[in-house]
Amino acid sequence: MKRITALQEMRAYRRLFGGESVGFVPTMGALHEGHASLIRRARLENQHVVVSIYVNPTQFNNADDLAKYPRPIEKDLELADEAGADVVWTPEYDELYPDAYRYKVTESEVSKTLEGEFRPGHFDGMLSVVLKLLNGAQPTRAYFGEKDWQQLSLVRGMVEALLVPTEIVPVATLREADGLAMSSRNVRLSDAERKIAPLLHQVLTQVDDPARGTQILTEKGFRVEYIREWDGRRLAAAWLGNVRLIDNVEI
Ligand code: PAJ
Repeated sequence: MKRITALQEMRAYRRLFGGESVGFVPTMGALHEGHASLIRRARLENQHVVVSIYVNPTQFNNADDLAKYPRPIEKDLELADEAGADVVWTPEYDELYPDAYRYKVTESEVSKTLEGEFRPGHFDGMLSVVLKLLNGAQPTRAYFGEKDWQQLSLVRGMVEALLVPTEIVPVATLREADGLAMSSRNVRLSDAERKIAPLLHQVLTQVDDPARGTQILTEKGFRVEYIREWDGRRLAAAWLGNVRLIDNVEI
């Protein structure tokens, strides 16, 4: 497996692949089995697999969350390699943001609700970096987890709206044995928080009434931001201590 940082080298590598298919998995690192399932799926469906690792500052609306985001790069390279990546692209801010983020991709409806309501600017930053990464890697297919349902929906919408010639492939949420959705932020849960964290998924699957779900979670120590139904899913965001968890299930 090859690690690439410079955009120019990423482009040169892409040219080498020519007309052969490239599967792309954009990530922010701190890779876990959920990410690995995306990489494995890309491996099955493409001749070449590129994974990007970039903790994108423009999609963080909370400086503390950005500062505390885990960055275990050596472990990440190992996991990406084992899951089947040919290239790991670790771009840097100056090359991804030559404009210092004067130009951005803004969606005006979906990105303002749910996650967008509680994380202003998050989806502008996410869509902008995903477009940059797609333009850098020029993949045939790009893989996104259903864990971030709104993100997946917005990326699909952007690709359609801006005529990006990449197929967006959704991948089911991978969970721990107790139902907790795998997430890079889970390592920041205390032992006590980790024990009650699976309740979020239980409530989403078993409680129809969002008000009742909020009550159950609040009694156990969650600070619920929303439980809402949208796009055929029941979605939630809630804090446990200083860790923000999100999840969603099919209704
Ligand atoms: P990150 O949170 O690292 O997630 C990278 C990809 O892995 C996303 O498509 C996400 O939905 C998927 N993923 C995360 N946890 C998963 C799980 N438990 N099961 C299945 N897939 C899972 O999402 C981002 O990074 C960023 O917003 C990014 C798209 C890279 C843009 O910066």
